[in-house]
Amino acid sequence: MRIYLIGAGVIGRSHAEAIRKLPSEESIELKVADPNPKALAAFMEAYPEAAAYSDAQAMLAEHANEDDIVIVGTPPFTHFELARMVLETGRHVLCEKPLVMNGEEAETLFEIAKRQNRLLGCCSDRFLGLPKTEEVKSLLQSQALGDVYKISFVYRVQRGRAGVEYQPESKWFLDRAKSGGGILIDWGPYDFTVLNDLLQPESVDVVAAWMSQPKTQIDPTDTKYDVEGHVGATLKYNLADGKSVWLQYERATCTHGEAYHHVEVEGTLGAVKWSPYFETDQVVFKQDKEGQVEAKESQMAHAGPYGVMDHPIYYFYLKVKGLESRAVINEQAVFNFHCLQAIYDCAESGTSKTVSKLRD
Ligand SMILES: NC(=O)c1ccc[n+]([C@@H]2O[C@H](COP(=O)([O-])OP(=O)(O)OC[C@H]3O[C@@H](n4cnc5c(N)ncnc54)[C@H](O)[C@@H]3O)[C@@H](O)[C@H]2O)c1
Repeated sequence: MRIYLIGAGVIGRSHAEAIRKLPSEESIELKVADPNPKALAAFMEAYPEAAAYSDAQAMLAEHANEDDIVIVGTPPFTHFELARMVLETGRHVLCEKPLVMNGEEAETLFEIAKRQNRLLGCCSDRFLGLPKTEEVKSLLQSQALGDVYKISFVYRVQRGRAGVEYQPESKWFLDRAKSGGGILIDWGPYDFTVLNDLLQPESVDVVAAWMSQPKTQIDPTDTKYDVEGHVGATLKYNLADGKSVWLQYERATCTHGEAYHHVEVEGTLGAVKWSPYFETDQVVFKQDKEGQVEAKESQMAHAGPYGVMDHPIYYFYLKVKGLESRAVINEQAVFNFHCLQAIYDCAESGTSKTVSKLRD
């Protein structure tokens, strides 16, 4: 089969590494396109098995096969046009996060994917399937927490801005017209993919939201820098059984306040705290024992050949092959994106926004 990569930058190389691990019985032909000769040369040095192109359209000009996959691994402002072009060539598209720049683009892509009978996937599923988060899911499903009423999802980093402290060479992160936003558009795709997978909401109300851009003495002045560094929102998750769960959401990639993270689900019978990402594999379940809080801790490390950076193409590959998979595609990819968009809209307008599940 053939896998095409559009973008030979940091994430393009990470996908190429993952493609080498795919379980395919058949051989996989890798092709890559990037107009930047330096990026392309560095990629080809690491992955000489690939065929290199300077132009994505030229790369995709050949006849499409039924199981061709194209990964869009370029900055967000290019995702929509590239993904549309890919779908129009009759190929499945797996788009890096954030899926696109706004809700209309997400809807349009999904319409084209349906018309073309192709899959629209989003790489925001990197952190799905980790044993620790699956354990939290099974605690929720088994009613061990009773009625779940509140989730805290807080990640506060003091100096971790993409384009400044992280990957400073990629200045596009700082320009909203290119990135779509700051910390919310960068990490929110993962956050709401994990949360929506856990809770499977019918709809989500963004009741209140705010965002800010804390200043530092090293703020870039030679490039456009208009993205938020700190965001918060209060959301109500409306579940299929008619119950609701309140979510207190906060993300900072720049703050003068304390750095900490806290992710915890609270119910009438118990609470569970864990980290959906890299910080720890510990899952702490608390419940009452004769009037006292009893805590049980377990370590749930992720093992196996596929790490989190391998998951997007691995899951999407399984989906394309018709196998069981955790891939986030189509309606779910669009719904997850709309949750982010609703937070931006609510913060900007000061009015609440509702995101409802898409139905065919
Ligand atoms: N860097 C990370 O750690 C990371 C992790 C997960 C997801 N992502 C996502 O991956 C995407 C790309 O990020 P990155 O860090 O790899 O950026 P990057 O700046 O390292 O690389 C982007 C590459 O895309 C190329 N490009 C731009 N327009 C193109 C086009 N029309 N056709 C082909 N190539 C084109 C650029 O020349 C560049 O080489 C973003 O959506 C980002 O959010 C990045």
